[in-house]
Amino acid sequence: MVAAVVLVCFSAACGRPHDAKYLIGFSQANLAEPWRVAMNAEVAARARDFPDMRIVYADAKQDNATQVADVENFMRQKVDLLIISPNEAKPLTPVVQRAFAAGIPVIVLDREIEGDSYTTFIGANNRAIGHAAGEYADSVLGGQGDIVEIRGLPGSTPARDRSDGFREAIAKSPGLHIIHDPVANWLREEAMAQMESALQAHDKIDLVYGHNDPMAIGAYLAAKAKGRDKEMKFIGIDGLPGLDGGRQAVADGKLAATFVYPTGGKQAVEIADSILRRKPVPHRITLPTQRITR
Ligand code: FRU
Repeated sequence: MVAAVVLVCFSAACGRPHDAKYLIGFSQANLAEPWRVAMNAEVAARARDFPDMRIVYADAKQDNATQVADVENFMRQKVDLLIISPNEAKPLTPVVQRAFAAGIPVIVLDREIEGDSYTTFIGANNRAIGHAAGEYADSVLGGQGDIVEIRGLPGSTPARDRSDGFREAIAKSPGLHIIHDPVANWLREEAMAQMESALQAHDKIDLVYGHNDPMAIGAYLAAKAKGRDKEMKFIGIDGLPGLDGGRQAVADGKLAATFVYPTGGKQAVEIADSILRRKPVPHRITLPTQRITR
């Protein structure tokens, strides 16, 4: 006979390992993109230095409704802190507001929500990165040329800011024109398809600005397949290390430049630790960027 053992939990820490004093919910927009896989890896690596934290991960798979449900689930689990990298700003704002109003400290990572209902935002300045990309485009083209801009997911704030900063920078040169600006939702395959249309529509393209490296590389591959890659320059953003990353694409001469977009994973864990220990933290932390050329 097997004796039934009934365990009754009385504390909020019920079900947590003995050494994990704090439960953290990390809601990730998706894990289909290499940059987000790198972010999660950075969080996990830094969290190893904080044995009293236990992090539970949720992958929203690029779906706003799934991400709302993920956050609601964390609230039911009574997490001590929420880290979120939101898929799109507007649809995720109300649930983050509810979590914050319920007293859960919130760290927003990389993409923003609307308003101010969070403890700390951590991310690079996308407008400044877009601006730097625009200045670089201006200088490699000598102030003259036709540009294709490939946009990220429209409801995500980096897509808006990377576009605004870029356009602001190139506006100084009346000889620069954006002749095509499709949306490819941050995805390489969608950028390839959009670039095929751009190539068909335009006999002359001097530069392609992708809001991230996967889209810039997708555009490069589409141009190469048509034998037109040498005609134009490609610029991206992210600058991930590794064989499939933007840095290698620059080294290989596929991209003329990329701009490092740090994931902030390490900083998120460190700020989480400070918040949980009731130390003062900044409301916004702006991470640095860096231009990478050959
Ligand atoms: C990954 C990603 C990155 C980009 C960031 C912007 O989902 O598309 O490539 O830099 O999101 O939020």
